[in-house]
Amino acid sequence: MPQPGPWYKMRMPSFRVETPQRTYSAIVESGIIGRAAEFIPERAGKLFVVSTEDVWRHQGVALARGLRDRRHEVLYLPGGEENKRLAPLESLAERMVLAGGDRSSVVLAFGGGIVTDMAGFLAAIFMRGIPVIQVPTTLLAQVDAGIGGKTGVNLESGKNLIGSFHQPVAVLIDPSVLATLPEREYRAGLWEIVKAGIIREAALFHFLFDQSAAVLARQPDAVARIIADSVRMKCEVVTADEREGDLRRILNLGHTFGHALEAETAYRRFLHGEAVAFGMRAAVRLGETAGHLSAADGAQILDLIARYGPIPSLAGIAAEPLLKRLVHDKKTVRGAVHFVLPVGIGAVEIVSGIEEPLVLDALRFALS
Ligand code: GLY
Repeated sequence: MPQPGPWYKMRMPSFRVETPQRTYSAIVESGIIGRAAEFIPERAGKLFVVSTEDVWRHQGVALARGLRDRRHEVLYLPGGEENKRLAPLESLAERMVLAGGDRSSVVLAFGGGIVTDMAGFLAAIFMRGIPVIQVPTTLLAQVDAGIGGKTGVNLESGKNLIGSFHQPVAVLIDPSVLATLPEREYRAGLWEIVKAGIIREAALFHFLFDQSAAVLARQPDAVARIIADSVRMKCEVVTADEREGDLRRILNLGHTFGHALEAETAYRRFLHGEAVAFGMRAAVRLGETAGHLSAADGAQILDLIARYGPIPSLAGIAAEPLLKRLVHDKKTVRGAVHFVLPVGIGAVEIVSGIEEPLVLDALRFALS
């Protein structure tokens, strides 16, 4: 992928996350993985790079070069949402111990959102917690999963139901690694960026609308800009509310519905971003029918979601089982499902107590 041009160079984007647990930078810079060694904490012991064989095959040489002469051990996760479970982490932890890992060890998470979540959780629980450097390699992980310290794995009964907040020491976001990202993964990541536009970034929303051809063609300036806007937004939100007591809940637009879809299809049929796109469509419908969103804004949001589609076929999935699954989502508190609903372009509200028939209707709409 060619290097980004003037817009990107002027901004040199690096954003701070300040939480009670830790303050760190999320740096958006083409080629930053070539400087990965600079971000390893001083006096760190063994370095464990946690990745997948696939990511390592495509990007391992670049990261190894960036680690310079720093010795490191590469550990592989199986990859795939259906393998985002506790068992692979236990095996990796055993291997870390056998390799001499101790409380001075550091994990470098190198992969997509499944890797950043799992490797982050491994770091959170290994010897009661060691540092993690997040180096996300998919668009989705670069703008969302790799930032903000949410780590965890799935249970049979739901997504990310075991986990921990474990803030990284740094997040290195290198847009140039996206050159090898498959088209489907790229579009799935774009939907998380669409989400950023809908919930808080009206200018980003309109940019995504007007420049969809440049974005879909992965034009470097356009890609760097949408990544930077999304990362800034995420850093601001996490800084304001690390533990999702309040503002951070807006990041869950489309997720409650999306998680139900992922669980219902055993995590095998949809990428996370695709499930979020489905969920955002349901949220738009619910926003309209519950009286929070105008038909004109709703239509514009649906149009933007469609521009980055299509969502893979939803054939054979019924609304009723999805509705049942909503109550198992961890955003459900004392049986009440809380929905993030768009109320305009760049604004959302958290709403609970919505009548079941409206929720069912929203699911049916999104499935249609
Ligand atoms: N992915 C949503 C969050 O980080 O809160």
